[in-house]
Amino acid sequence: MTPYEKLLAGNKAWAKKQQADDPAFFDRLSSIQTPDFLWIGCSDSRVPADKITGTQPGEIFVHRNIANMVVHTDVNLLSVLDFAVNHLKINHVIVCGHYGCGGIKAAMSNIDYKPVLNMWLRNIKDVYHDYRDELNAIADEELRADRLVELNVHEQVTHLSQTSIIQRAWQHDNGPHLHGWVYRLKDGLIKPVLEMLPGSAIDPLYIYEDL
Ligand code: CO
Repeated sequence: MTPYEKLLAGNKAWAKKQQADDPAFFDRLSSIQTPDFLWIGCSDSRVPADKITGTQPGEIFVHRNIANMVVHTDVNLLSVLDFAVNHLKINHVIVCGHYGCGGIKAAMSNIDYKPVLNMWLRNIKDVYHDYRDELNAIADEELRADRLVELNVHEQVTHLSQTSIIQRAWQHDNGPHLHGWVYRLKDGLIKPVLEMLPGSAIDPLYIYEDL
């Protein structure tokens, strides 16, 4: 069996088990999804949103990219956010980073990853720049990277609050709650690092009027 055939065989076995465990499962989910969460996570294969939270298909709407970034010019991320907030009416947006993130480590290096990756990693370098006094004071490189993972999650949650999408929802729907989490590969546990509720303070520069 080739590696990709293994995936298809795995799919058959999963569908069979799911049908046996919950006969109404596919009928229920084929017509509608009503997730309560939007997950913005890292593309890293070791951090699958549903597995590590013990949730089922239908429970989490997912967007993943390198180092779980919220970039204000990223049409992909913004359209996912818009759909999740305004159409699915999810109540929680979770930005989940992870210790040992390759994207974070790459951004801390001086390696030329060529134009496209350099452009993406630049967003992370800018986070480092904003916190460089704190980060440069950490001698151990691994610990410094771990701290940048936490600060980056903090920063990306802040970016969410700076979008007109979130500000409009906070004003009119009193939701969603924004969460910043960090997952540890070494023990599988998630550490919450930040929560922003509707009405949380936003830098006046980024506040939109007449939403
Ligand atoms: Co990562």
